[in-house]
Amino acid sequence: MSLERLLAVIPAGHSDEALAREVNFDRLPAHIAVIMDGNGRWAAQRHLPRVEGHRAGSDAVRETVETGARLGLDVLTLYAFSIENWKRPVTEVSTLMVLLKRYLRSELETLLKNDIRFRVIGRMDELAPDIQQELHLAIDRTAGNTGMLFNIALNYGGRAEIVDAARRAIASGIKPEALDEEQFAQFLYTAGQPDPDLLIRTSGEMRVSNYLLWQIAYAEIYVTDTLWPDFRRRHMLEALLAYQKRERRYGGITPARAAIGAQ
Ligand code: IPE
Ligand code: IPE
Ligand code: MG
Repeated sequence: MSLERLLAVIPAGHSDEALAREVNFDRLPAHIAVIMDGNGRWAAQRHLPRVEGHRAGSDAVRETVETGARLGLDVLTLYAFSIENWKRPVTEVSTLMVLLKRYLRSELETLLKNDIRFRVIGRMDELAPDIQQELHLAIDRTAGNTGMLFNIALNYGGRAEIVDAARRAIASGIKPEALDEEQFAQFLYTAGQPDPDLLIRTSGEMRVSNYLLWQIAYAEIYVTDTLWPDFRRRHMLEALLAYQKRERRYGGITPARAAIGAQ
């Protein structure tokens, strides 16, 4: 079913078709998280201002979101703005916010058409009121959708999330001895969502930059040199196919290895 939904947007004979046909839909990651990085370098390579890289990055967001929904993911989480990104020049930050607003306005119809539910993770109350308003509109309008959940991480920090969760846990009055990992996860921004199975980072950086620190405990990490504005369906399918070749162990041993050890 999902293969058909994906093929519906791939022109016949396009090289993405062969990649799509390789996907094992019985082994899809429930949740893909992406660190969208490299916009500034993309712009620098073209002798353009950094903000042009962010502008070009919107196309990559559009294609990634639609591909995720058509694949049939449960959750897709995109890292759009970290708490630490406030350290950037004011003009860059304000352009990022304007682009976000523009994206939300132009893509709301696409989100609705693809049955996508939109959510924000991060300290949303610290964003400018007009941005919050636009975000709430998209959240409310898509709240009844039942397809993929699209989280955007905005003013997000993994450590801040854990601190916020600890505060909520304390405020809830939960008894310390009742607090275990499962309970604690219910106080995170991602309460009720599966942990990311696959973490993709573009632009070649080998770090997690304060992203979903709790949730990525056993995520498979895939780093591509592709810069975010160049990231397309093909790159997402390549990441997915690489993920499907991985052996996940969660600290244990697979039956095949256990058999070798028993000999
Ligand atoms: C990612 O691209 C976008 C945000 C962090 C908002 P960068 O702006 O970090 O691009 P590089 O890393 O400087 O190339
Ligand atoms: C991570 O990228 C944040 C987002 C993608 C929003 P950064 O470019 O901010 O991370 P560092 O500074 O390279 O670690
Ligand atoms: Mg960067």
